[in-house]
Amino acid sequence: MLAQSPPPLQHLLSLQDLNQADFQRIFERAALFADDPAKANHQISIAKKKYTNLKGRSVFNLFFEPSTRTLTTFAIAATRLSADVHSLNIATSSQNKGESILDTVSNLMAMGADYFVIRHPQSGAAQFVADYVGNRVHVVNAGDGRHAHPTQGLLDLFTLRHFRGDSKGEISHLSVVIVGDILHSRVARSQIWGLKTLGVQDIRVVGPATLLPEGIHEWGVKVFHDFDLAINGVDAILMLRLQNERMERNLVPSFREYFHYYGLDEMRLKRAHPKALVLHPGPINRGVEIDSSVADGTQSVILAQVSLGIAIRMAVLSLMVES
Ligand code: CP
Repeated sequence: MLAQSPPPLQHLLSLQDLNQADFQRIFERAALFADDPAKANHQISIAKKKYTNLKGRSVFNLFFEPSTRTLTTFAIAATRLSADVHSLNIATSSQNKGESILDTVSNLMAMGADYFVIRHPQSGAAQFVADYVGNRVHVVNAGDGRHAHPTQGLLDLFTLRHFRGDSKGEISHLSVVIVGDILHSRVARSQIWGLKTLGVQDIRVVGPATLLPEGIHEWGVKVFHDFDLAINGVDAILMLRLQNERMERNLVPSFREYFHYYGLDEMRLKRAHPKALVLHPGPINRGVEIDSSVADGTQSVILAQVSLGIAIRMAVLSLMVES
């Protein structure tokens, strides 16, 4: 019987669209680009080698929300793959003169766009553009509202796999806690979906009731309100930022109180497995959700996540061009 070729990756809008084989395909490609980075002290070095996978292609970054890591690492990833990269400055674009997102997209297609990497405050914005462009352009969701941030989810799982994966690169044996503002977090939604797809059984979430979404008990996760209980013995702690920009009212009494109950400091970290990894998608708010001694400590892989994010984004962009 002939081996079936994997389905094409036209767009990446949500991790819900990927199966376990898709994850493995992306991770294996990313591992090539990560160039066997050193594991000592949780340092990562990503080779600055140039590849030609996207030679002659144009990647347009359309960020309707601020970004440091995602925008820059997509630009680096596309450049390393030899694409022409254009990052539209939305603040000074004709969006400000009332142009619709679809008219903007049509004009960029007339300029030869092959990829749109889109970040937008509205959930569903990337899907909206993907429905419009069909198979003429690849669309990558770089974060839409509180819905999804698929490449962040991928790079978080890739980081776990890199540092704690078993000999087959599997992470299903790990016990993981996701901490904080789950309600507004597209990152948490992508992480949970990815962890479940990869067979992780022990997924815990913890936060105050005001920051947990309704119905979270049906998401296949263990729900906690007490961080000291939730962190017990875990292999990885996935911290989240308080997403103030998405809060319609004050949902925590004060940052000081929030840190007291849900902040990660060295004392609390001792309750986890001694080799537990600390992850955070960034930007971090020191003293609000995480203490500097932990963010900069030996168990932190926060900067390794950023470096591995380049390899993940190179993997996604390069697999799309093969579809
Ligand atoms: N993690 C993340 O999305 O960071 P940026 O907002 O800086 O892109």
